[in-house]
Amino acid sequence: MDIKHVGVVGCGLMGSGIAEVSARSGYQVTISEATQEILDRGLGNLRNSLERGVKASKLSAEDRDVTLGRIKGTTDFGDFKDCDIVVEAITENLPLKKEIFARLDDAVKPGAILSSNTSCLSVMDMAAATKRPDRVVGTHFFNPVPVMKLLEVIKTIASAQEIVDKAKTFGESLGKTVIIAPDAPGFVVNRLLVPYLIDAVRMLEAGVATMKEIDHGMVLGCAHPMGPLTLLDLVGIDTTLFIADAMFEDFKDAKFAAPPLMRKMVVAGRWGRKTGKGFYEYSK
Ligand code: CAA
Ligand code: NAD
Repeated sequence: MDIKHVGVVGCGLMGSGIAEVSARSGYQVTISEATQEILDRGLGNLRNSLERGVKASKLSAEDRDVTLGRIKGTTDFGDFKDCDIVVEAITENLPLKKEIFARLDDAVKPGAILSSNTSCLSVMDMAAATKRPDRVVGTHFFNPVPVMKLLEVIKTIASAQEIVDKAKTFGESLGKTVIIAPDAPGFVVNRLLVPYLIDAVRMLEAGVATMKEIDHGMVLGCAHPMGPLTLLDLVGIDTTLFIADAMFEDFKDAKFAAPPLMRKMVVAGRWGRKTGKGFYEYSK
């Protein structure tokens, strides 16, 4: 079965980006959210992202309209019934994700692929919540999805090779370079990236350096496109805390232990760009 219709669960930072690149690549897209209000906000962000492409002359106004015409927002899982692949991109929480996979399994046609955009959680656990574990893989996109070139396809011990190959071909059709990664916490990239990001917070908390020194250090000294604290604001302090806690739970290794400052920032609503304030402040 060829992939023609893509489903996405969650219209947050990542879900809206996955829907955008899928629609721009010619797929029909159905995207769901928990409530109509959150869906409208997410689709608004998607429209703004396309608008940015128009302003930068990377996309014509006509292509923008055709892309938007391919995307249908919903709050009803019944609308996923004709999808050939459904990518889950909700909050990084395993019990919640397992519940979504069980619901998707009932809602989506039997031959379809189910995938998760999880940053670090066990894809096998999500597959086990379905009656089609062979058709479940991870598709880990990177933020911002329209810009970042990598896709990690996660193969579990139950994934059929044919499904892994299809997920890889799907990723390539979106213009991504695909690496096949193991179903181990953090896969390839986050296993390296997460300790680095939270170490930057530890340094700040310990008074070793200021935010600017840390960020300028890595941008100017190592040619990173942005420093670790700026990157944490982009990814979301809330999301990074979920990831660090889950990886610490799995590895019991202090390098994944989230610094108290991160926890306090999450409690204070300083989640990064998405709430207007994280390590830095963001005007509208
Ligand atoms: N949508 C579409 N295009 C975008 C975009 C968006 N949201 N954000 C930036 N762009 C495009 C711009 O149009 C621009 O394109 P051109 O060069 O062709 O004109 C290009 O990206 C650069 O953008 P800007 O000049 O506005 O800004 P910048 O140079 O500061 O780049 C950035 C922004 C692309 C985000 C860059 O800073 C970057 O690559 N940062 C690192 C991002 C990163 O490491 N992501 C991985 C996060 S970890 C993860 O995703 C995994 C996980 O599980 C947590
Ligand atoms: P986000 O908080 O921006 O979006 C998550 C969305 O899921 C929210 O809008 C929420 O309302 C929605 N949601 C929750 N329950 C739902 C349900 N039952 N049905 C439909 N929608 C529901 O988070 P995000 O940054 O987009 O992260 C989503 C996933 O992608 C997580 O697993 C995260 O670890 C992963 N991820 C994030 C990044 C990143 O840089 N932020 C990068 C790669 C992967």
